[in-house]
Amino acid sequence: NNVLVVNGPNLGRLGTREPVKYGSTTHDELAALVMEWGAEVGLEATLRQSDDETDLVHWMHEAVDNGWHVILNPAAFTHYSYALRDACALVTAAGLTLVEVHLTNPHAREEFRHASVISGVATGTIAGLGVDSYRLALQAVAHRVG
Ligand code: DQA
Repeated sequence: NNVLVVNGPNLGRLGTREPVKYGSTTHDELAALVMEWGAEVGLEATLRQSDDETDLVHWMHEAVDNGWHVILNPAAFTHYSYALRDACALVTAAGLTLVEVHLTNPHAREEFRHASVISGVATGTIAGLGVDSYRLALQAVAHRVG
């Protein structure tokens, strides 16, 4: 089973971006961890990152076309991208699992982060556990698609 793990805007800066909030793991290190954690639960997981909404929308389409499950950290798009929401809806409507993940707990932060336009079309959400959010999401996908 293939899983596409996608990180949205500014997450390419992981490791140096506000490490107190987002941790010290770099994006390259996270990419390696995602592959390793995926393999541990029998999944072939690859991590991609873009700051561009268009890329994220197209990657959701690619997941639908290829039958890939998705783990998505939509970053700031979480809070306002209806285009990404609609693309995520295509994934779950196709019967594929889509787990929304966040490093931080957006509900414990600024008011504008409390709303997610993605959650309503995601299979489920894991937030607030740092890079373990991705590990748990991979485990959840493996459980569901076993
Ligand atoms: C984030 C939370 C978002 O509010 C923020 O815009 C991000 C990262 C997280 O992983 O905690 O860029 O998605």
